[in-house]
Amino acid sequence: MDFSTLFFGADTSYLTAAGVRKRFHYLDSTASTLMFKNALRAKEAALSHYGNIHSSCHFNARISQKFFDLSQREVLRFFNVDESTHSVIFMGSGVTAALNFLARTMQEGFGEKSTVAISPMEHHSNDLPHRKYSGKLLLLPLLSTDGELGCIDVQGSRDLIAEHASDLRYVSVTGVSNVTGIINPIAQLSEICRDYDVPLIVDGAQMVAHVPLDLSAGALANISALVFSSHKIYAPGGPGVIVARNEFLKQLPAVELGGGMVGKVHRQGYELATSLSGRFQAGTPNILGAVELGCALNMLMDIGMEKVQAHERALMDLVWGVLTEHPKVKIYGSKNRTTAPRAGAISFNITGVEHGLAAMILNDYHCVAVRNECFCAHPYVRDLMLDDLWNIPVDGLTEDQVRVRVLEMSGMLRVSFGLYNTAEDVLAMAEGVGDIAENVNSYRRLYVSKGDGNFEAIDGGSDLNAIDQDMIFGRRPTFPGSSIR
Ligand SMILES: Cc1ncc(COP(=O)(O)O)c(C=O)c1O
Repeated sequence: MDFSTLFFGADTSYLTAAGVRKRFHYLDSTASTLMFKNALRAKEAALSHYGNIHSSCHFNARISQKFFDLSQREVLRFFNVDESTHSVIFMGSGVTAALNFLARTMQEGFGEKSTVAISPMEHHSNDLPHRKYSGKLLLLPLLSTDGELGCIDVQGSRDLIAEHASDLRYVSVTGVSNVTGIINPIAQLSEICRDYDVPLIVDGAQMVAHVPLDLSAGALANISALVFSSHKIYAPGGPGVIVARNEFLKQLPAVELGGGMVGKVHRQGYELATSLSGRFQAGTPNILGAVELGCALNMLMDIGMEKVQAHERALMDLVWGVLTEHPKVKIYGSKNRTTAPRAGAISFNITGVEHGLAAMILNDYHCVAVRNECFCAHPYVRDLMLDDLWNIPVDGLTEDQVRVRVLEMSGMLRVSFGLYNTAEDVLAMAEGVGDIAENVNSYRRLYVSKGDGNFEAIDGGSDLNAIDQDMIFGRRPTFPGSSIR
């Protein structure tokens, strides 16, 4: 089935630099996904009844509370759990807020232990907060086949966790890499953490929209907290989400204080809210965003995550075929798709072509959106590109030129997909990559380096002047003053 009609933006077209109108091929879902049309409808329906859930008597407040509760219930249902074992906490706009919250709260709650373990493939959001709030950061090992990095090494991790168990505050790992799309063995890691009684946090930013997850059964039931972002699961106005085991949350102190998270407050003290999710949601939550997310998850459950996964596997097979067969394309990470299976994303370079130049040509001439640079995972990208970085030709360049050249060559192109993508999107990308590999020197004359690793068209590129305030906010007549006399 073609799922693209369910989404806004899957049929947008633009005029290319060659003057041809083309459909836009959105292959940047790892950064943010397009939005389910139904999710906006749900939000609009909720708007007629909008009120703050901290009010409790009037119709709008009670209906909004109901919508909010239903959305939390959809999150639990999506992972096949209920409130008897798990709670949902909405937080900020994404995973970054959730991970900062957990790192800070765990420092207060589990401060007697100083060590935190992550993997070397983490997004900065699942690295820097733990560096800040822990005394010592351990890196779990990655498997390496033929010198190429794969997923987290289970046995190596068991050994490391066993060695540090007495001082290990928690382990926090990504379910799927945002760079290579490599899927980590979180069930096995969860077993290890259970064996050593260490809490496990899973960064699900790149996993939940692509891989079915049942938190009720087997080793996954032991995950202490799973975090994800609404904007990466077809609800771009929604909050960051923590789905956590109640037993885990009960051990945590309330670190963010204010309205909403308390029961009674006296001059001398306060009582925490009785609901676990309420206790950790200080302030007014993003109620409408929660509704949007609830609807998106409801849609995904109706479609079935197995079907979502099958659709994306077919896309991955197609992308894999196109890229591995091209003699001038280098894919990063292990090529063994049995020991290093992938979901959602894949990163590569075209021999001798700067990532920033290739990304601009793909956009300007082929209407293909990809991400380039280091994807907020600088240490991992550097590990993956080590050989390439040694071989950047810099002879005869000044120090400044070397600095720019290194920026231009240290990065990758990333193709990532969502439910709306089709074979046509992959073929458009393949045509673009083939064109760049063959004709990059003709394109080079049309672009200039910006000195920061990216490029811009010499003639100013696509004319975006028509995009202005009136287009987005609308134009309206002057309003008369108040009619109350
Ligand atoms: C694996 C991973 N973790 C965390 C994040 C941060 O997510 P957000 O920007 O929604 O906070 C991202 C974003 O791309 C990601 O890919």
